[in-house]
Amino acid sequence: MIKITVDNREIQAKEGANLLKTCLENEIFIPNLCYLDTLAHPPASCRLCFVEIEGHHQPVPSCQMEVVENMMVKTDTPAVRQLQRTALELLLSVHHVDCGHCPANKKCDLQNIARFLKVGLKPKRLGTFLKNQETMDDHPFLNHHPNRCVLCGKCIQVCRETHGTPLMDFADRGFKTVIRFYGQQTANPVPCEECRSCISICPVGALTLKTPKD
Ligand code: SF4
Ligand code: SF4
Ligand code: FES
Repeated sequence: MIKITVDNREIQAKEGANLLKTCLENEIFIPNLCYLDTLAHPPASCRLCFVEIEGHHQPVPSCQMEVVENMMVKTDTPAVRQLQRTALELLLSVHHVDCGHCPANKKCDLQNIARFLKVGLKPKRLGTFLKNQETMDDHPFLNHHPNRCVLCGKCIQVCRETHGTPLMDFADRGFKTVIRFYGQQTANPVPCEECRSCISICPVGALTLKTPKD
């Protein structure tokens, strides 16, 4: 074990452990949406988990860092908070905030992070840009809601871990990027009705089980 210091607190950590994971395990909250500890190479796509580390000129995403002996970390500096708030506002600018009609309401990571960073869920600075399609319903058991999706990729990873090959993936590029299922063509029978791992791991309400009304 080695010693690192986070926000003036000494922590024992395993050398080479992921810094974000180490902080979370020690009850030091760093906003994050796309980190999964089963991923060998975290995608660092949400850009929320910034920290300052002594010796680095700029804040760095903690999910990309390994702990080393005597590392000095600060999670709550003005530069860190500014980057995190901007990243969150970007996510919210492409998000249909309608919590009252969302199954994730009150257990949503986006809500929790917004509260933590003291950012309203409807910031006006960047405007709002939504995709045309509110619900993608071409899967036999699941619906995907692109305007709630934060494109963290956790559903793809958990599906890969559970079934060997993921039954969904990112499709299209840039603003048009969505999660698209292809399991209905490649797996027969489709395991999704019983599995539901992707719904459970989704940090927001972007995947839902079809109801009899759908
Ligand atoms: S995903 Fe979260 S922030 Fe978005 S509408 Fe649902 S509860 Fe609200
Ligand atoms: S559907 Fe959910 S888990 Fe999958 S990429 Fe979107 S937000 Fe992440
Ligand atoms: S958790 Fe590090 S960039 Fe998303």
